[in-house]
Amino acid sequence: MKNLLSLEALTASEMRSILDRVVAFKSARTSHARPLAGQTWALIFSKSSTRTRVSFEVGLRELGADVLFLNANDIQLGRGEPIRDTARVLGRMIHGAVIRTFAQKDVEDFAQFSGIPTINALTDDEHPCQILTDIFTYEEKTGLKIEGKVVTFVGDAACNVPASWIFAAAKLGFELRLAAPRAYWPSPDILKRAGAGDAADWTQHPGSVTERMTVGVGTIELLTDLNLAARKADLLYTDVWVSMGKEDEAKQRIEALGGYQINGELVKLAKPGVAVMHCLPAYRGKEIDDTTFEAHADLIFTQAENRLHTQKAIVDWMVAK
Ligand code: CP
Ligand code: NVA
Repeated sequence: MKNLLSLEALTASEMRSILDRVVAFKSARTSHARPLAGQTWALIFSKSSTRTRVSFEVGLRELGADVLFLNANDIQLGRGEPIRDTARVLGRMIHGAVIRTFAQKDVEDFAQFSGIPTINALTDDEHPCQILTDIFTYEEKTGLKIEGKVVTFVGDAACNVPASWIFAAAKLGFELRLAAPRAYWPSPDILKRAGAGDAADWTQHPGSVTERMTVGVGTIELLTDLNLAARKADLLYTDVWVSMGKEDEAKQRIEALGGYQINGELVKLAKPGVAVMHCLPAYRGKEIDDTTFEAHADLIFTQAENRLHTQKAIVDWMVAK
């Protein structure tokens, strides 16, 4: 039985095995096999969601399942019932679970104690379904593999979305540049888990606050200099400055991250025809300006649509015999 709890736990060939299935699901949409016929899957969400919720509800139905949406606050979990007990109950009644919550350990405990296929639909640590979708979307748009490309992430580089990008870079092999103030760089622990050496081994670039390191078969650059990060990038990517659960830090985050924005000037520094992507929801005037967002809206909303097709591929990969 397979789970999808993190990109950290996936191999490159497992990622490719998922990505290779997406085209078939996108082109056939409703005329493909229904491997979940007769099953019931549950979505258990402790945080808000538009894309992830709708794409999983629709996708699981198109794969043949009945779907329950459980707001964590409406079940006893929200009143303190342990995740392990919730998992042991649901594991006896349903066939698979999709969980959006805070602690990564809760998703891992759910998988262990339920014994049913479990998907991480975003935790504080990772957003694996998003980044698999993003890679599919980049490759679909350009017709090129992401291997060897330059992906520049702008904004809060310490949150879940860039963490999943880090593990993808390490496994698949591309250059990931993370442009953020130092306080919003990813933790040394994540970099180490992705395969980086100790900080002392990282290369400090002269004349700028930059660290460069090898992770697995990829490269990570941490930069405070946004313009340097964007230079000749193949993909410019951003996410919100204030992630879910960080609302009480909103004021300090908006001050600290001010300027770490994708805008017309930044796009000019990247490769001509650069892909501009955003996992959404977008806050115009913060991590991206309105003109740039609208100029790239077709790709950004294709990216959102591709959540549906990619997640169907993920589930198909998980339940395949
Ligand atoms: N990108 C993403 O996960 O969107 P939602 O929070 O709307 O699910
Ligand atoms: N980093 C964001 C992603 C939203 C899809 C958050 O956790 O809120």
